[in-house]
Amino acid sequence: MDTPQHLALDLAVSAAKQWLDGLEDRPVSSTVSLEELRSRFDRKLGHSGIPADRVVRDLVEASKGGILGSAGGRFFAWVIGGSLPSALAADWLTSTWDQNAALYACGPAASVIEETAGEWIKELLHLPREASFAFTTGCQLAHFTCLASARSAVLKRAGWDVNNDGLAGAPPIRVLTSEHRHASVDRAVRYLGLGNRSLRSVATDELGRIRVDSFEEALGGSPGPTIVVLDAADLNIAAFDPFEEIIPLAKATGAWVHIDGAFGLFARASERLRGFTKGIDLADSWATDGHKWLNVPFDCGVAIIRDREAHREAMTISASYISPERQARDQIDWNPEWSRRARGIPVYAALRELGKDGVADLVERSTAFCKTLVGEIGKLPGAQLLWEPQLNQGLLRFLDPRPTATEADHDKKTEQVIAAINASGKAFFSPTVWQGKQAMRVSVVNWRTTDADIRRTIEVVKKILGG
Ligand SMILES: Cc1ncc(COP(=O)(O)O)c(C=O)c1O
Repeated sequence: MDTPQHLALDLAVSAAKQWLDGLEDRPVSSTVSLEELRSRFDRKLGHSGIPADRVVRDLVEASKGGILGSAGGRFFAWVIGGSLPSALAADWLTSTWDQNAALYACGPAASVIEETAGEWIKELLHLPREASFAFTTGCQLAHFTCLASARSAVLKRAGWDVNNDGLAGAPPIRVLTSEHRHASVDRAVRYLGLGNRSLRSVATDELGRIRVDSFEEALGGSPGPTIVVLDAADLNIAAFDPFEEIIPLAKATGAWVHIDGAFGLFARASERLRGFTKGIDLADSWATDGHKWLNVPFDCGVAIIRDREAHREAMTISASYISPERQARDQIDWNPEWSRRARGIPVYAALRELGKDGVADLVERSTAFCKTLVGEIGKLPGAQLLWEPQLNQGLLRFLDPRPTATEADHDKKTEQVIAAINASGKAFFSPTVWQGKQAMRVSVVNWRTTDADIRRTIEVVKKILGG
């Protein structure tokens, strides 16, 4: 029956299939300007509405050229995964079912699916099975959830009840972390009222790992309430901090250790790559993403916390209309949001589709592709290899050939080459600054990337460099 609902959904399905089928040939970059996009969308909001199918058709039409091909296999910018087929379909169903995944009572199946998905994630990543978890919007909110629990626990040890008494008058908390940390750590610290001045950046070695001697010095003899945030892995070169050495030192002083494992925690799924994360299971909390290496649609992060009570106390809430479920899992006890979508459903689907071996294969495959991509481009005349990938992240720089060229000229050349690659529409990269130098960051996390994508990308860069 052609109900408005069916018409709108059918249009969305066919537009989605067309979009996905066209990923191979369509430009990976945007082909329309900001002004053009604004002119297409920023129209007067009418007093009367229009049929649902027309809304969908207009949306598809007006977005043309303004959607990056990040779902495809030649998008290597930032750290952005695609969507596995089952995860995308499960995400559609999550919206269709439209459960309020705050409470078991509002979405019984959603609650149990998320409960199972959380257990599977801990198993896959070899993290303590007794830990609690929450599916958040991303790693940013996973940090927030973990660090809210950390704040509560370290202040409790100092005789302060932050959940009831707040921070005014509380003993100050220090947050020791890498100079290469992701800025989402700073923001979580700010959200929690600790202020950015509570952050102490610890120096790193030539491999981008926190120096143990600098860490010991920063930790001091008998520190007050302390949270330590370590990287697994950092976003430029996928550096893993020396967990085995640092975590016992920190824990001996009563500090809480949190791990930023937005994508790097997935190295634990691979027997071959797990070595990078040795000792990470000694930490107190771990934040990661579903929307990066697990390839579920945005938005999906995961917070995992060893101290269930600290986690629950920091997040739980009661209201007159909530009757706590004694047997089932109410997500509101663990999540920072109240009403929320059941973003754990696509995680459940992705894990079933891949299985443990499939996740390991995805992580190993991405790593191998990144090594080839960076290694081969690095050999081209005019290119310089800045960081050979150990995992899925590598760095390249492009050099101005003039004999008088300065570092600033090489920076400019690097920006120009990135812009030219992106303008070609054949591949997409993003810039970064590493050790004061402009670089092209190469990140491979998409399940769709194939050997042919890697070859095609190398050829494009070769052509741009005049090879
Ligand atoms: C290392 C690292 N940590 C944290 C984040 C923040 O993650 P999200 O964007 O999912 O909140 C990112 C995002 O790129 C990251 O690379």
